[in-house]
Amino acid sequence: MSRVYVPWYQRKEIVETYESWYQGPEGERMDRLEKATLRALLEPMQPKSLLEVGSGTAHFTRWFASELGLKTVGVDLSSLMLTEARKYWDGPLVQADAAALPFRDRSFDVVAFITSFEYMPDPVRVLREAGRVARTGILLGLMNRWSAATVRRRVQELFGKTPFFGNAHFYSLPEIKKLLQRALGDRITEIRWQSTLFPKGFPWQTARLPFGNFLALAVHLREVPHG
Ligand SMILES: C[S@@+](CC[C@H](N)C(=O)[O-])C[C@H]1O[C@@H](n2cnc3c(N)ncnc32)[C@H](O)[C@@H]1O
Repeated sequence: MSRVYVPWYQRKEIVETYESWYQGPEGERMDRLEKATLRALLEPMQPKSLLEVGSGTAHFTRWFASELGLKTVGVDLSSLMLTEARKYWDGPLVQADAAALPFRDRSFDVVAFITSFEYMPDPVRVLREAGRVARTGILLGLMNRWSAATVRRRVQELFGKTPFFGNAHFYSLPEIKKLLQRALGDRITEIRWQSTLFPKGFPWQTARLPFGNFLALAVHLREVPHG
């Protein structure tokens, strides 16, 4: 009899340790560089409000709200992740699937996905849904397919050494750009991107080279008039 696959974010013992990813010297470096990259891409969009989809423990959600001053809402599929998030943040959190967001058209300036889009089985539908809810842009933070860290992740997964990536799809820059065009086409006015978390010893920590462990894209959208 085959076993039912349970993703890690539906497993209490894993969810309860999730925030530890951002602790210790390596976790703190990751946190600092990812936030600096996201901030640089977000600033030109000048958002006032943001919906984070796949908000997890609200690690970035609370940063968007408190550090960047955005009116922020988090959405996650997993009730366990939402329960964990409430230990860290008392802002608005909603349980929903990224493919069917319970918000009206253009409710937020920006819709963000930080290492969550990889877990979504119908990416075109999810991007169209984000485009429906977003007024001016979509922010994506991805575990880059073209990185040493993802090679390591895939090997670990192959040998059953990690519970984290069994249902994840890793995107490269060309693949995600193609998907964005397919989902949102003419609505896209510009795509800006950067990557960070290069291997130690690399001369830059953030660069427009598509090989960093964390690949971030700001997708600028043409505003659609109401009505
Ligand atoms: C790696 S965690 C990222 C959490 C947070 N954004 C961060 O970077 O710390 C991925 C999150 O995506 C959520 N998720 C997976 N599929 C989803 C879906 N279809 N709709 C909404 N959330 C989803 C999971 O429950 C999990 O909390």
